[in-house]
Amino acid sequence: MSSVEPEQRVLSGMRPTGRLHLGHYHGVLANWVKLQHEYECFFFVADWHALTTHYDDPLPIESSVWDMVIDWLAAGVNPGSATMFIQSRVPEHAELHLLLSMITPLGWLERVPSFKDQQEKLKEKDLATYGFLGYPLLQSADILIYRAGRVPVGADQVSHVEITREIARRFNHLYGRDPGFEEQAEQAIAKMGKKNAKLYRSLRRRFLEQGDEEALETARALLKEQQNISFGDRERLYGYIEGGGKVILPEPQALLTPEAKLPGTDGQKMSKSYGNTIGLREDPDEVSIKIRRMQTDPARVRRTDPGDPDKCPVWQLHDIYSDEDTKEWVQQGCRNAGIGCLDCKKPLEDKIIAQQKEFRDRAREYENNPDLVYSIIDEGCERARASARDTLQEVRRVMGLEYRR
Ligand code: TRP
Ligand code: SF4
Repeated sequence: MSSVEPEQRVLSGMRPTGRLHLGHYHGVLANWVKLQHEYECFFFVADWHALTTHYDDPLPIESSVWDMVIDWLAAGVNPGSATMFIQSRVPEHAELHLLLSMITPLGWLERVPSFKDQQEKLKEKDLATYGFLGYPLLQSADILIYRAGRVPVGADQVSHVEITREIARRFNHLYGRDPGFEEQAEQAIAKMGKKNAKLYRSLRRRFLEQGDEEALETARALLKEQQNISFGDRERLYGYIEGGGKVILPEPQALLTPEAKLPGTDGQKMSKSYGNTIGLREDPDEVSIKIRRMQTDPARVRRTDPGDPDKCPVWQLHDIYSDEDTKEWVQQGCRNAGIGCLDCKKPLEDKIIAQQKEFRDRAREYENNPDLVYSIIDEGCERARASARDTLQEVRRVMGLEYRR
């Protein structure tokens, strides 16, 4: 099996439910673009997840998949740095989902907050389905099949990463103990050499007897440095520190995506359902109109009335887009009625349109050459599958499906 470093691996997905807007950019995509330089990243289109809520009307999913991929590329996700793929093109996710379903207590799924919340919120849909109950477990399969240690998500998804950790723990507990696990672990310790073996044993004891987290960290670091033990031995010894078996599916951690405070044109949070969005690569004339019509401090009725940026969504956009001098100019000019709201919006309009020009320029290459997009995704799917297959092979083995050849 190829070696994976879970701490270095990032995985995240997005449901294809329409064109992306600037709220997605500042919330998610800018973060992905940053992470792709720091980690080994896998980003995917969660089309099966979209079906759990849109099964009665799948057409919008189909039509937004490629647009979304182009939006990602436009925003600067780089196929040379990140692996981009489509969930349903890596059927290994489905097999792992099925296998994990065997060990998942119903109560765990029923207790995930989004299960009841979404059923309440999307009342017009019948979400009393098997697929929807399994939504978080499918997400667990997405994560665990790549042994990804870091999962960038918004606050609403943290409970899904949490249940993934519980599933991984349960899985490792059930299947991580090969017969003779202890002896194998002891033999692996001996291979580290006398000094390191002694250190490992004492750190393990400190963790098991006193719950010393620092000892746990040090022991893990020690294992990471070892050159002369095999991948299997290393995994075994990771598990052995904590008293348990081999870590087959590592527990991931949520990397909380900073909440995008981006307001829409009406001052509420930017969201498709409020109809207040500015698209990621929208026509510049359209963007100008939207910004000029954008809600301002309601108390500033006449040009001569002083305003309060703290009560104005335009200011929130300045806060994200503008440099310090411009921000100072807005603060002063607004409070003493030195500038009008249209003056205030102008530099913002320019900044947003300039950024979107970058997005549109990047997108154009792909729009004009869809085969380029398809081949990026073909390659991404292949790379993802190779990694997913490795994990699945190990999972099948420990679950007693080895005879399946
Ligand atoms: N449920 C996520 C959302 O709605 C999308 C998603 C699916 C995901 N699988 C994932 C995110 C795995 C992170 C990791 O935003
Ligand atoms: Fe808002 Fe700017 Fe008008 Fe002040 S001047 S109310 S910050 S748009």
